[in-house]
Amino acid sequence: MAGLIPQSFIDDLMNRIDIVEVIDGRVPLKKTGREYTACCPFHNEKTPSFTVSPTKQFYHCFGCGAHGTAIGFLMEYEHLSFPESVEELARLAGVPMEYEGPSPNEPVRRKKDESLYDLLAKVDQYYRQQLRQHPQSRRAVDYLKQRGVSGEIAAEFGLGFAPPGWDNLERQLGQSAEVREKLVSTGMLIKKDSGGSYDRFRDRIMFPIRDRRGRTIAFGGRILPDNQEKGDKPPAKYLNSPETPLFHKGQELYGLYEARQALRDITRLMVVEGYMDVVALAQYGIRYAVATLGTATTEEHLHKLFRLTPEIVFCFDGDRAGREAAWRALNNALPVMREGRQIRFMFLPDGEDPDSYVR
Ligand code: UTP
Ligand code: MN
Repeated sequence: MAGLIPQSFIDDLMNRIDIVEVIDGRVPLKKTGREYTACCPFHNEKTPSFTVSPTKQFYHCFGCGAHGTAIGFLMEYEHLSFPESVEELARLAGVPMEYEGPSPNEPVRRKKDESLYDLLAKVDQYYRQQLRQHPQSRRAVDYLKQRGVSGEIAAEFGLGFAPPGWDNLERQLGQSAEVREKLVSTGMLIKKDSGGSYDRFRDRIMFPIRDRRGRTIAFGGRILPDNQEKGDKPPAKYLNSPETPLFHKGQELYGLYEARQALRDITRLMVVEGYMDVVALAQYGIRYAVATLGTATTEEHLHKLFRLTPEIVFCFDGDRAGREAAWRALNNALPVMREGRQIRFMFLPDGEDPDSYVR
């Protein structure tokens, strides 16, 4: 063995792998509601009491009490040591191992990440509350209604409202310098050159971007059509969180968590361009759409998708940019193609996007 494995490497790895896939490759699982079940591999039984939770990334057996993470599962099931289990998971995830001597800073970093997740959960809750309560929320609700988004779908996707103004979030959550610093590192506040900071997202419909466990790690924000903000240049239609310790654009897909929650079996996944495409398709019962976040479809995205399904359909906007995106997606997909995997392209008529077309 080549030295210690840094805790940060294990944390990142655990965020990338999926316990459901790890176990399913060894003990075929069945989806029952939000969890997966099987007959327990650790004791003899005829009716399944072994459950795997995709949101908690834990397995638990109600029969014999066996429980743990993906690492623990491999240790028990394959009789591996801890580092061997980590190495096996890294191999499955296709990431090179990292080893090093002991680092005194690791526990600090880990704690810091955990508190960033907690903070974003509060931000998320705040935006959702504003969609219900803010004096101007009517504008946001009317806009969503006019776009045909039901309350049910809005709730499922956790849509929220960032009210107009430069310091709503800062006043709500940024009481201490420490919290303001964290809000900056999660991309929610922007630092001013002159000192101080201001809200990144203002007068926007907020789309939380969730990781595999359903934790909010970033946001997309769409401007409202009657936005009154004055500035040097007109505000962008969509704003996304920047790269942060929790959010790496090239790895995340908007709607993937929601798709996995909604579907029993994922026979295919469809890659679209926009947040509203995902939401509108879900509104019309097409629950398998995901969006890249203002970037091209990367090889990492494709790895992630192919681990969940053998078929990917690309459906970009019916315009020149969309056709170019399809060509790029094809090029990025070729290296990950292999026996049993399929990619397809759906081309929409000129001027249509999946949102307009499904309607
Ligand atoms: P589109 O402009 O095609 O958005 O951008 P859309 O989904 O059709 O928007 P609606 O229907 O007017 O609401 C597609 C995606 O590109 C990114 C966003 O991720 C968006 O969902 N984008 C777009 C930005 O990041 N910034 C922008 O200003 C515009
Ligand atoms: Mn659109």
